[in-house]
Amino acid sequence: MKALITAGGHGTRLRPLTYTHNKHLIPIANRPMICRAMDMVTEAGIRDVIINVNKGDTEIRGLVGDGKAWKARVQYIEQEAPLGLAHVVKIAQPYIGKDKFLYFLGDNILAGGVKKYVKEFLKKGSSCHLLLSRVPDPERFGVAEVKKGKIVRTVEKPKEYISNLAVTGVYLYDHHIFEAVKSVKPGAVLPGRQIAELDIPSAHQWLIDHGYKVTFSEVTGWWKDTGKPKDLLEGNQLILSEIQTKIETKDIEPNVLIQGKVRIGQGTKISGRSIIRGPLVIGENCIIKDSYIGPFTSIGNNAQITDGEIEHSIIFNDTSINCSQRIVDSILGEGSIITSCHQTLPSGHQLFVGDNSMVEL
Ligand code: TTP
Repeated sequence: MKALITAGGHGTRLRPLTYTHNKHLIPIANRPMICRAMDMVTEAGIRDVIINVNKGDTEIRGLVGDGKAWKARVQYIEQEAPLGLAHVVKIAQPYIGKDKFLYFLGDNILAGGVKKYVKEFLKKGSSCHLLLSRVPDPERFGVAEVKKGKIVRTVEKPKEYISNLAVTGVYLYDHHIFEAVKSVKPGAVLPGRQIAELDIPSAHQWLIDHGYKVTFSEVTGWWKDTGKPKDLLEGNQLILSEIQTKIETKDIEPNVLIQGKVRIGQGTKISGRSIIRGPLVIGENCIIKDSYIGPFTSIGNNAQITDGEIEHSIIFNDTSINCSQRIVDSILGEGSIITSCHQTLPSGHQLFVGDNSMVEL
């Protein structure tokens, strides 16, 4: 059994973060998404992993390397352009051969990982096994129609109700998928794209139509596809809701109030009248003074926060916040600086914001 993980793509919905970094490096509860994907794949007992990256990408290789940290063997394939999920499968064929494999979209996270689903796939002996998750808004997803326990068709973003079973970004295949992807024709050019992609649902439909065994498992815990900023915050929230307390610093002044489950890294100093209310995670070597850090917040390493109030947000490494405004539902990229407009004249909000940013004043 092998695994194919996607770590390429456009990442248009996560701009401006994805202008500077591959989206799979975005930290969720302070762990980059690609590392979470590697965790899930290897926890399922898979040691032979192929990662698809964009042409010229060095960031993913730099972080995951040869996979030793996971006791795995990682090989990389470079897509000439993000030509779609069926295209990734096509170019991975020489690396996978006749083996069965787990196709894992690197921006997906699932509670409890994928081990039990891999087992179910192997037990059922199917050609294709999809993970389905019940969602309240099926019109946003690829949806499976199930009759008598079998998937009879999948429909992308259905306008009329078919079912509330969304197809997640975790698929299990045998070698017949390589025949199926050959049949996929480029679809319409989607908004934000220059070229039409080879999509994967058409390959699943081909397998169904040609009588191959296509089975499914219903995901029992939560599942999140972190394509949009709101999804990143929700994914962060879901992961933080399961953390256990671990405080690795001794540098917390006695008046600081710590409530709920928190993880705080080495070298972090928390002082003054700060309140740290979990669940949350704060990285290493941060300085937090007279601030409120509220539930569902992840703060990376080397952040400096003074007189701040932050809740339900993701703050990357090396960020500096010094303002008495409350920051909520926010994502601050690496090295961001947020200061109070009362510190400089003329008063007013001074903004230095990159392309496709969003600021609410
Ligand atoms: P998507 O989220 O469907 O696409 P995207 O990453 O290009 O983002 P956006 O829609 O915001 O522009 O991709 C799902 C996963 O597949 C994700 O891990 C990126 C990856 N991917 C590839 O590796 N190659 C591709 O050709 C495509 C389209 C996606």
